[in-house]
Amino acid sequence: MVIFILPWKEKELKELLLINMKNHIHLLSFTLFFFVSCTSLEKKKVAENSTKNSIVISDNHSKEKTELQKSIMRGKNVYSGFCMQCHLPDGKGVPGNFPPLAGSDWLTDKRSESIYAVKFGQTGEIIVNGVKYNNVMAPMGLNDEEVADVMNYIMNSWGNTQDQMVTVDEVKDVKK
Ligand code: HEC
Repeated sequence: MVIFILPWKEKELKELLLINMKNHIHLLSFTLFFFVSCTSLEKKKVAENSTKNSIVISDNHSKEKTELQKSIMRGKNVYSGFCMQCHLPDGKGVPGNFPPLAGSDWLTDKRSESIYAVKFGQTGEIIVNGVKYNNVMAPMGLNDEEVADVMNYIMNSWGNTQDQMVTVDEVKDVKK
């Protein structure tokens, strides 16, 4: 009797175990899936945040650049319209008559005087790169923004470099 029941029970038991195992496998794979998707979601979030941050950082950076870049672009137009005929396209001027802007020590050393000259005109003796000039640059009637723009253009062209961008407020503060 026992011999007969035991194999039967064994079979039952095995089946029961197998069902249990199957259930466990389902549960296990579900837990694994849940865990994996959670961590990948977390990673995605981190990645999204870091790209968001880097976009913000580069946005600030490019905004600063484009402000100056935009001013220089506008200044280039002012230069071709108002300054080029005397100071020439290469900014070298005409020695003895029209002083150079390219590599001009006057422009780099006398920032506010240069703004003043472009805003209100310049007459009287000046020495630029060791050469004496005593000529007339009449005022051209530019507004403060045009003065700032053309200053940014001449201070960033032909190898000239500028530490600080000329702003409209800076031009506004230069008074007669
Ligand atoms: C009609 C010719 C003429 C025009 C146009 C002219 N300039 Fe001048 N510029 C001169 C002369 C001449 C001087 C020197 C004046 C003097 O002898 O005191 C001068 C001086 C300067 C100086 C200071 C000296 C130097 O070389 O660094 C700057 C800066 C300058 N000009 C920028 C400009 C800008 C910017 C424009 C256009 C918005 C302009 N000029 C238009 C003739 C001109």
